[in-house]
Amino acid sequence: MFDIEKIRKDFPILKRIIWGDKKLVYFDNAATTQKPSVVINALVDYYENINANIHRGVHKLAEESTIAYENVRLKVRKLLNADSNTEIIFTRNATESLNLLSYTLGESLNEGDEILISEMEHHSNIVPWFILKNRKNISIKFIPITDKYELDYEALSSLVTKKTKIISVTHKSNVLGTVNDIKKISDIAHSAGAVLIVDAAQSVPHMRINFNEMGCDFIVFSAHKMCGPTGVGVLAGKKDLLEKMPPFMGGGEMIRKVTFDDFTVNDLPWKYEAGTPNIADVIAFEKAIDYIQSIGIQNIYDYECELTSYALDSIKQFDFLKLYGPENVKNRAGIITFSNPVVHPHDIATIIDQYGVAIRAGHHCAQPLMKKLGVQATCRASFYFYNTKQEVDIFINALKSAFDYFALGACKDLVSNEPKGAKR
Ligand code: ALA
Repeated sequence: MFDIEKIRKDFPILKRIIWGDKKLVYFDNAATTQKPSVVINALVDYYENINANIHRGVHKLAEESTIAYENVRLKVRKLLNADSNTEIIFTRNATESLNLLSYTLGESLNEGDEILISEMEHHSNIVPWFILKNRKNISIKFIPITDKYELDYEALSSLVTKKTKIISVTHKSNVLGTVNDIKKISDIAHSAGAVLIVDAAQSVPHMRINFNEMGCDFIVFSAHKMCGPTGVGVLAGKKDLLEKMPPFMGGGEMIRKVTFDDFTVNDLPWKYEAGTPNIADVIAFEKAIDYIQSIGIQNIYDYECELTSYALDSIKQFDFLKLYGPENVKNRAGIITFSNPVVHPHDIATIIDQYGVAIRAGHHCAQPLMKKLGVQATCRASFYFYNTKQEVDIFINALKSAFDYFALGACKDLVSNEPKGAKR
């Protein structure tokens, strides 16, 4: 599909040796991805050659850095197939984009209005709405998930009322890998007159996204989960809504005029970009987008499906593990989450770290989902296009050692991977 060995050479960190002689196997890509040299070099190049504040100075460097920054906005617009650059706002991360929306869009809500979010949300798509709830006396309802770890679309339809003003859901769960049907959700949202927000932090890096075809009103994601630097988030939104919403933060750049009495706001997208933005990281993000596009987002998706299938087939030999996520790999590519009731996920992750394997263990910033799953925490392996089947084998062997250590083979009867209600 693509030359994986050549690709791996582009990522300096993948050469790292961990704990003596163990090569790094990095399976924590849902938390953050590694960076290719082109992105790292772009940061150095920016600071060595064009560092200047943007949209302010008239000198050569200011002009160069402004053009470079605004070019990335154009690139992001094309990546998402959004209508206009004015619909692309740079933030610090997906979390800030969601907070921006809860603060600004939330301003138009009144007591008694309702917001729907799902049980599989990351805290970043829960807590901002709770903050709004406390400010506005609105109500938050959770769309349930099914025993097959999918969104319950029927329940969603029955939860929507005339009071539903916002539906905010993840595109792809950071725990289950579940990919939600945004078109279907958008039809339900819009027929009720609600606005649809999509947290695409886990999908934009891994699959083709078409903002216009998806039918949502806002989409948010982070650069660092797609080979870009940390500290860059994106909020893409429909222009008419962005125009109606009040500003988020006040300061330089987001104003048109300030007097001793008042201020007027700048045009989109700068209306939402107060203060000096993360110029260097935004500019380096362009290289990440170019890099991913040179591999091909569809190739990345197909390869991750293949890797996930391979890993799932292998991990199923451990019949004492509870696996979470939809059966169909196309609906959960790239993420494998598991637990065992006898051993804490942190212990498993700590042992396999001794073999150089980096996975995430914990609640994954999704405590309500953990409660729904009936656990405190899980282990999660998450892949990207630079991972290989050989690395999956190392991961499986490391797990085997950990499970031998804990004698987990003896607790097979404590776990069932059949959906609740299925015949046994
Ligand atoms: N949201 C990131 C994760 O799922 C940090 O690990």
